[in-house]
Amino acid sequence: MGERARDRAREVAALRLGLDLGMTLIDTAEMYADGEAERIVGEAIAGRRDEVFLVSKVYPHHGSRRGVVAACERSLARLGTDRLDLYLLHWRGDVALSETVAGFEELRDAGRIRDWGVSNFDRRDMEELLALPGGARCAANQLLYHLDCRGIEWDLEPLCRGHGVAIMAYSPLDEGRLLRDRRLTALAEREGVTPAQLALAWLLAKRNVAVIPKTGAAVHVHDNHGALSVELSPAMRTEIERSFPPPKRASPLKMI
Ligand SMILES: NC(=O)c1ccc[n+]([C@@H]2O[C@H](COP(=O)([O-])OP(=O)(O)OC[C@H]3O[C@@H](n4cnc5c(N)ncnc54)[C@H](OP(=O)(O)O)[C@@H]3O)[C@@H](O)[C@H]2O)c1
Repeated sequence: MGERARDRAREVAALRLGLDLGMTLIDTAEMYADGEAERIVGEAIAGRRDEVFLVSKVYPHHGSRRGVVAACERSLARLGTDRLDLYLLHWRGDVALSETVAGFEELRDAGRIRDWGVSNFDRRDMEELLALPGGARCAANQLLYHLDCRGIEWDLEPLCRGHGVAIMAYSPLDEGRLLRDRRLTALAEREGVTPAQLALAWLLAKRNVAVIPKTGAAVHVHDNHGALSVELSPAMRTEIERSFPPPKRASPLKMI
């Protein structure tokens, strides 16, 4: 969002429609459209901040103690709010993790963020983080996770779950590619739901997983909202496992 000025009104409207329907988690980042995505979110949530669970992310190169605090203040200004519900390190960079944790904790003590977490952290990064003083306060790890990308189920998701770290499944539709996958379209047709609803319902049924599809189109907001009412039958679950099998071994973390 925020890439093209002509799409702005449509994107703001899509976010507001999502809120109207009760889809109240909004994920953004200082990186997206160079701050413009945060401004669009700010416009969409103006006057309704309390309805929203607001998530943003800091660039790794802003990951020093002072850098994190300064970046957060800039994000808050663009978002037109005084606090984030969750603030994430976008991916692992070169700055010492202890610095980033110190910045996050400073922001938490000041009430500027309610919780903090990470994104694109593989098992070894998580282990290193959890061993740091205060590192176990990490609330979430945002990861690429969808039907056709299940590598995290091998050991990363269990590790996170064991430490009370929530998973946020990003690109849950594989940036739209999944919706054209014949395995998915066939299963969705049989179940009488749309491909997006099947892909999202599969993730939503998982414990400890939040799901953050992106759309700037009202018709897709309604479609994705419908996933909340889809209950997958045991037979359909078996079919899904057959078509999109879980991992059989460890693999490097995939990211976009
Ligand atoms: N932490 C990270 O490193 C990271 C990386 C990537 C993404 N993310 C987060 O994850 C969010 C979602 O990921 P994403 O945008 O990469 O991919 P996505 O949500 O898997 O897919 C978005 C694409 O699917 C389309 N779409 C959405 N709902 C649809 C529906 N019901 N029917 C047909 N098409 C539909 C959208 O087009 P329309 O807009 O036209 O509907 C868009 O082209 C991002 O907004 C971001 O917040 C995080």
